[in-house]
Amino acid sequence: MHDIIIALDGYSGCGKSSTAKEVAKALGYTYLDSGAMYRAATLYFIRNQIDVQNTQAIDRALNNIDIHFYRNKETLRNETYLNGENVEEEIRKMEVSEHVSAVSAIPEVRRKMVKQQRTLGAGRRVVMDGRDIGSHVFPEAELKIFMKADLAVRAQRRKKELEEKGVEVKLEEIERNLAERDRIDTSRAQSPLVKVEDAIEIDTTNLSFSEQVNKIIKLAKELIRK
Ligand code: DC
Repeated sequence: MHDIIIALDGYSGCGKSSTAKEVAKALGYTYLDSGAMYRAATLYFIRNQIDVQNTQAIDRALNNIDIHFYRNKETLRNETYLNGENVEEEIRKMEVSEHVSAVSAIPEVRRKMVKQQRTLGAGRRVVMDGRDIGSHVFPEAELKIFMKADLAVRAQRRKKELEEKGVEVKLEEIERNLAERDRIDTSRAQSPLVKVEDAIEIDTTNLSFSEQVNKIIKLAKELIRK
């Protein structure tokens, strides 16, 4: 038996986090949502009106940001805390989605988040989803998945997900946000979203949720058994 790291990267809204959660559950691994960390940092930037061009303000903000995950005793899921406050719901809102790619393109922000992500994954047995996990955070990860799906399908899925939480957002607005985040995430100077050579690409456009989850579990089990 081998303890492995599973890196799940890909475009916004392809179902990375829900897939990663299920894969982690099936394997008895820990799920780590690296996007939640960038979202929590973004929430701090929004609340404190930090100018993303002002290096001093950014450094000061980063010194005041403490992000942690704590397990919810009822749902048994990890929830995101910013300076001791549960922000799990707040960070999924459109306002955060609109600013998160800009904040996560700041090199100082990335340095801080990556350092913490590496510490969190140091014990292995983790499934971490994000944009640069296989390329930068854990280039040594045994299993790297690169997920993609058609923009229209991603927007539909995200709309349904938001509706289930009682949030109404226009389909065009979601589509615009996903496309804009793809643009910034793939074109930023530091560790942009790329499919690394040793990643296995999964296009989920025509896959059901259980199909995409089972595909990854099968690949992981082959490596764990080795
Ligand atoms: O996975 P998500 O949609 O919650 O991520 C939100 C944003 O955070 C995403 O648009 C880009 C950024 N991000 C990143 O730059 N690197 C990561 N490893 C994870 C997320």
